[in-house]
Amino acid sequence: MRQKNTLVFLVALLLQLSCYAQNKNVLFEGIPAFHGAQVVGNYPNTPFIFTVPATGERPITFNIKSLPEGLSLDASTGIITGNLVTRGEYNLKVTASNAKGKAEEDLKIVIGETLCLTPAMGWNSWNVFTKTLDEKMVIEMTDAMVKSGMRDLGYEYIDMDDFWHADTRDSLGRPVPDTKKFPHGMKYLSDYIHSKGLKLGIYSCAGNMTCGRRFGGYTYEEIDAKAYAEWGMDLLKYDYCYTPPSQKTAIERYTKMGTALKHCGRSIVFSICEWGFRKPWKWGQQAGGSYWRTTPDIMDVWKFPSIGFSTLKSTLNREETLWKYAGPGHWNDPDMLIVGNYGKGLATGRGVFKGMTDLEYQTHFSLWCMFSAPLLASNDLRTMNEATATILTNAEMLAIDQDALGEQAKPIYKMGGIRVYLKHLSNGAMAVAVLNTTGSEKKFDLKASLLGLKDACIAHDVWKHADIGTLKDKLPLTLQSHETIVLTLNK
Ligand code: GLA
Repeated sequence: MRQKNTLVFLVALLLQLSCYAQNKNVLFEGIPAFHGAQVVGNYPNTPFIFTVPATGERPITFNIKSLPEGLSLDASTGIITGNLVTRGEYNLKVTASNAKGKAEEDLKIVIGETLCLTPAMGWNSWNVFTKTLDEKMVIEMTDAMVKSGMRDLGYEYIDMDDFWHADTRDSLGRPVPDTKKFPHGMKYLSDYIHSKGLKLGIYSCAGNMTCGRRFGGYTYEEIDAKAYAEWGMDLLKYDYCYTPPSQKTAIERYTKMGTALKHCGRSIVFSICEWGFRKPWKWGQQAGGSYWRTTPDIMDVWKFPSIGFSTLKSTLNREETLWKYAGPGHWNDPDMLIVGNYGKGLATGRGVFKGMTDLEYQTHFSLWCMFSAPLLASNDLRTMNEATATILTNAEMLAIDQDALGEQAKPIYKMGGIRVYLKHLSNGAMAVAVLNTTGSEKKFDLKASLLGLKDACIAHDVWKHADIGTLKDKLPLTLQSHETIVLTLNK
């Protein structure tokens, strides 16, 4: 019996290791493959920067037929920079070639009023580091994003959250960073990050103070937007501490900052963070936001009988009701990722939560991708283990998040602890997630009738990276406790 158990364990271990190996291969070996957004928005006459995300054996040479005047491409990195003055759609044919072969994709640039035509992807300092954020860490995290292959999959924003600030503004009211933490200033940092084809984000608040009691943005909106543009910022997360509670005031304050950003001369993504208390999905886009938090801060725990914070389960409960408010340029944000923190995040563990299992983190990531949520990893990218990297770099899952149709998955079944979510994809296929919320293993027959399918479909398992059968009438599934199986269904 013991021998049999050992054998089962060894087989499981080998399968796990081959899965990690496969993940690595996908990123750094073989012919080039494109990932991430295939449609990118920017404001007219503002700096444009975008790295064409592609994996495969390096070196890769990029080429773009009919690159519009005003843009240039670095052929060895795929970084496109420049400035497009004229509004409209620019359709680019991009090729990537290496020793193993060549790939081609269509990339659309839309110069107009909308950013984040697919959900933002990147990293944010808050969940793990809270106030310990500094320049050295931001640079190291940028390098880790490149080294880990995350940039090649479309992660692009490096977001500094609270605690970048000096004690006070300068005598002219301008924002000043803490010079001990950021000895070379913000422009130095953004130049470095832009040289890697990545983007830099910053944080402020619609009150007099941020949630961490640093100086806030209220009444300084134009001054701050101008400073952020001069510093080379690409994103602003705008919080709502120390503010009057009404929805009316929130709309006014967010609109003030959103308008200032629109006129600051850079394409700065505006991320609204009032935790969903004032229904920002109804007014956030109008206020200039590209996405808005829908929930209070997420904690590193599946379920917990507390109030004030969110757990993975409570976040899901809220998020699944909001599907109709999401779409290109306007996304629901169920908060940053906690994948890989294992209870150690200074903000999300708090010495109370022990963290989640890798399977639960996989569920967390799967659902964020199904929900077309912004994907802001908030773990230490420098030291993440294989299991964490495997989750964050699952290219098939990321393609579901970044799908150009921009649908947020709809809940279509909720019974006996099983939930099923359905998301249509731009290629005519559908993605389906089946979640077991119970504490024990469950069997579930996924029925074609539930999905409205008339023809047989090939069911492809996004975590196994394999076709697992044909869905004609029903597909039997076995789910571990808290597991999510994600399938794409193709005719
Ligand atoms: C709030 C936000 C968090 C983080 C902190 C910073 O709690 O919801 O995401 O930005 O403030 O103080």
